[in-house]
Amino acid sequence: MFAYFRTIAPVTQQNRPSELRFPYNQRLLLPLWRAVNFDQGEYAGAPEQGAQWNRGAYLVEGLGHCSACHTGRNALGGSIADKRLGGAMIPMQDWYAPPLGSGDSAADIGQLLKAGVSARGAVFGPMADVVAGSLQHASDADIGAMAAYLTTLPVAAPARAVLVVPGAQAMLRQGAELYKAQCAECHGADGKGAAGAYPSLEASRAVGAANPVNAIRMVLNGGYPPSTHGNPRPYGMPPFGPTLSDAEVAAVVSHLRTSWGHHGGTLSAVDVSRLRGVPID
Ligand code: HEC
Ligand code: HEC
Repeated sequence: MFAYFRTIAPVTQQNRPSELRFPYNQRLLLPLWRAVNFDQGEYAGAPEQGAQWNRGAYLVEGLGHCSACHTGRNALGGSIADKRLGGAMIPMQDWYAPPLGSGDSAADIGQLLKAGVSARGAVFGPMADVVAGSLQHASDADIGAMAAYLTTLPVAAPARAVLVVPGAQAMLRQGAELYKAQCAECHGADGKGAAGAYPSLEASRAVGAANPVNAIRMVLNGGYPPSTHGNPRPYGMPPFGPTLSDAEVAAVVSHLRTSWGHHGGTLSAVDVSRLRGVPID
């Protein structure tokens, strides 16, 4: 990149002041962070896995920066090696980046990464930015390599806890009513959605996850998958934050989390209220 920049004609341009907040504007912290968390080296690879897998591993673990969100961090800000791509809350954004070992087919994963939608679902939140600004421009060969690598990660078990609190039956009935009135026109009475337009909530991992933040935030904020070559006119979901109370959002998400084979358990209004004020991005 340096060699390339040196071939570009210079222009006069005032430096813009940095907009990074403290402590991220402290450049001296970087060598410190590096000393603690960075091991210099080259991608070693696993020759027995073949060229495509190695290309995918190199892109996912290196250039793709997938760990930045999908791997948990220790107290010193480094990624936790044995939790590699095992899912994590994104610090300060209150989105959950799920484990990348999913059991999905390489074709579904590749389509999700490149088009932003697949038979399995649609990307949202920070992952929509990753697809919009980056992955949709990757070549089919690179997407195929990343997908092939991701299918070989260990698959995390879905939430299995029976977390339906006593007295929840009235709330679940209210949630089912709300679902029928507000959600079923798009996601279907059976939760199967409409392929390519409205994601299946039966297949949604966000719905069944132990960590409920993504499902709650989707209902509060709504959203659009990114516009991509594979999906130029995405269908959107309206925000329900303005029209549903915290208790109503908790009821409808609890209904999802206990329907169609999900075992995510019920939520309370408090789980919703603490996510109401979080900025969308
Ligand atoms: C800026 C944070 C961020 C980065 C960087 C990021 N992701 Fe994500 N990813 C998320 C979030 C949040 C979700 C959950 C929302 C969704 O499903 O779209 C997600 C979801 C996914 C899913 C769907 C998982 C499922 O089971 O539903 C896949 C696959 C995925 N990411 C792959 C990747 C790959 C591959 C990379 C690197 C090229 C990457 N992500 C980089 C934040 C990120
Ligand atoms: C007008 C159609 C429409 C309505 C009504 C609607 N949704 Fe959605 N929903 C969508 C679309 C489109 C997406 C994908 C959005 C994205 O990727 O940003 C989505 C995504 C979701 C997701 C994330 C699924 C995943 O894992 O990809 C959840 C959870 C969800 N909706 C729940 C609900 C609930 C609960 C209601 C009713 C309160 C509702 N939706 C009403 C269209 C709708």
